[in-house]
Amino acid sequence: MAIGGGIVCDISGFAASCFMRGIDFGFISTTLLSQVDASVGGKNGINFKGYKNMIGNFNLPQFVICDPEMLKSLKKEDLLCGMGEVVKHGIIADKSLFEFIEKNAALALQSDPKVLERFVYDSVVIKSGIVNKDAREKGERRKLNFGHTFGHAIEKVKQIPHGMAISIGMVVAAELSVSRNLLSRAEADRIKNVLKSLQLPTQIDIKAEEALNALKRDKKRDGDSIHFVLLKSIGEAVIEEITIKELEKIAYEVCVYPG
Ligand SMILES: NC(=O)c1ccc[n+]([C@@H]2O[C@H](COP(=O)([O-])OP(=O)(O)OC[C@H]3O[C@@H](n4cnc5c(N)ncnc54)[C@H](O)[C@@H]3O)[C@@H](O)[C@H]2O)c1
Ligand SMILES: [Zn+2]
Repeated sequence: MAIGGGIVCDISGFAASCFMRGIDFGFISTTLLSQVDASVGGKNGINFKGYKNMIGNFNLPQFVICDPEMLKSLKKEDLLCGMGEVVKHGIIADKSLFEFIEKNAALALQSDPKVLERFVYDSVVIKSGIVNKDAREKGERRKLNFGHTFGHAIEKVKQIPHGMAISIGMVVAAELSVSRNLLSRAEADRIKNVLKSLQLPTQIDIKAEEALNALKRDKKRDGDSIHFVLLKSIGEAVIEEITIKELEKIAYEVCVYPG
């Protein structure tokens, strides 16, 4: 039984899955990020030689316990990181969750247990629904990477918490969706505003070239194009191929290195 955040769950799930070719395991998730994301979906793994999640497996726990009371002692930064993933779930799959976040951002920032309970409940339903359709990430599950392609590039350039990086990544993906005439300007602005209301960043002080170079090295890159999760509307994600060129203008808008 693993009691802790995403790191504890990832390592324990991996160890339990290997020991004697696999023993039963369960999680008591103690961070918002782990409750809404890391403990759902059966991915277990560890980093190796500087590469994230290089060694791992797919194996589901027997149980996961998520108690919002546990989250009262979390540092604000850890709470915000989890909220980034909750916003992502609303954006890609559930407009009513997104609207709930819009209305309750201030209470969420005060760790209101009723608000956090809905965040956790809806996130688990959304993520497990997607994972059940595509456990091995061949199609539908890729939608959970919304905001993560550019977000991971940012994390490679500057050490900022994951939830902060994907917040900026989500702004990039929303702007790209607008530039492809998929998403309305008004909905892209709502996304930016909800992130701001949760005190999540929508810009970062790094050089756009550095983020773009990191992206070019990304393993998901396929020739000159990359698979990117875009939006048709809030609540409906699509996966399309985009070129690095298309990203450039938007990268310069979100990467605001002084001078
Ligand atoms: N397996 C997956 O599908 C998946 C998905 C998303 C993220 N992850 C992984 O999860 C990890 C991030 O998870 P995380 O944000 O939970 O990080 P974490 O496990 O490092 O926890 C964050 C911090 O919170 C502390 N903490 C834990 N519970 C607390 C509590 N109740 N009160 C106060 N402090 C507490 C921890 O000691 C730690 O300092 C990353 O390694 C990421 O790769 C895995
Ligand atoms: Zn994430």
